[in-house]
Amino acid sequence: MSAIQKIKGFADLFPEDARSFTHMEAKARDVFGRFGFGELRTPVLERTELFAKGIGEETDVVGKEMYTFTDRGDRSLTLRPEATAGVLRAAIEAGAIEPGRATRLYTFGPMFRYERPQKGRMRQFHQINAELLGSPEPQADVEVILMLEDFLSSLGIADLCFELNSLGCRECRPDYRAALTAYFEALDHEKLCEDCKRRMHTNPLRVLDCKVPACKALVADAPAIGDHLCTGCRDHFSAVLALVDKAGLKYTLNPRLVRGLDYYQRTTFEVTSGAIGSQTAVAGGGRYDGLVQLLGGPDAPGVGFACGMERLAMLMQKPEAPRPDFFLAVTDTREGSQAVDAAVLLAHKLHRRGMSGECDYSAGSMKSRLRHAGRIKARKCYIIGAEEFDSGQVTVKDMEDGEQIKLDLAAFD
Ligand code: HAM
Repeated sequence: MSAIQKIKGFADLFPEDARSFTHMEAKARDVFGRFGFGELRTPVLERTELFAKGIGEETDVVGKEMYTFTDRGDRSLTLRPEATAGVLRAAIEAGAIEPGRATRLYTFGPMFRYERPQKGRMRQFHQINAELLGSPEPQADVEVILMLEDFLSSLGIADLCFELNSLGCRECRPDYRAALTAYFEALDHEKLCEDCKRRMHTNPLRVLDCKVPACKALVADAPAIGDHLCTGCRDHFSAVLALVDKAGLKYTLNPRLVRGLDYYQRTTFEVTSGAIGSQTAVAGGGRYDGLVQLLGGPDAPGVGFACGMERLAMLMQKPEAPRPDFFLAVTDTREGSQAVDAAVLLAHKLHRRGMSGECDYSAGSMKSRLRHAGRIKARKCYIIGAEEFDSGQVTVKDMEDGEQIKLDLAAFD
């Protein structure tokens, strides 16, 4: 019978890869914790309407990429395609958002999008996500951008590019959308891809972000959002840029940066790398004033970001496996010998003393076991052979200097 295989676009993480993820999570906890962020864990499954409302019906994520199904109680549920909507739902439901006071939350976990899998693009991927709720000030935008920079540099990832833009607000964006639609209508818009022919009316900003070469060429001279911002948005963005300048962050202004989710207002940003193939965005985020209210909460603004852990893992140096303190080999193969029992009990005592290591009671040769102990870089090799077992002892070989001593098993009690 052929073995059952994993689903396309989903991955198993064995210890070597899982270690990178654990390392990222530890760094995020450390950095975010120092900024006063607390960890929140939310369910992977939410009501479909949360994402339809929060992310926007016209986005690719909601329109084509969600894992949605009807449960046995006839409810439409969706595996979360991102974390922000769920974090806000949880914070609103728990009454954790107090107007006038900042709430800082971070979360990690798997997200699900039915995209075409390729290098750096999975159907189940993992995000590290942070949200700062309740602060309308441009300083809050800068705080999260600087926290993201600190986190990425704590991972030792270099050569990243921060791209910044402002998407305006409910006041000025309609004017910009109208200008964009007028621009596309005046062009030979038959040359746009099928999606963009629709988007130029439903969501013209998304045309700016289309990867199809013909669309890219047509948007080259499209109006820029910067020329359409209202005074409030212009002042806000100027304050953000002035402060990131003061902080010494290097960035580029990208007036074509639109992001794939409809909730953004004002500041948006992406962090890209040229070293991981065509999926260059390792993190993205921005301000989403109005979203908390749209989801039934108080009038509290918000700003945040998410990093893609699979993409960060490709850029990071893999953390080394921790060195075990011991490797314990049983070489007493006599029929009826209790040496294996003694070894398991000894390993248990060593573990209780805080030491790490594994017990090997396989039938391999001593040479191959020592080779294995060397490969996993064990500091000491403990050996219980027939002679040791009969005398109630264990041989301890120091793997660095090769020195060997015998210790009484009773000494570990
Ligand atoms: P996003 O740009 O859709 O934003 O996703 C953030 C990051 O998740 C991307 O930059 C990328 O690294 C990673 N990512 C997205 N899709 C995939 C995929 N299919 N495979 C692998 N990695 C992927 C958000 O999700 C927003 N919720 C971010 C945010 C938080 N904005 C405000 N607060």
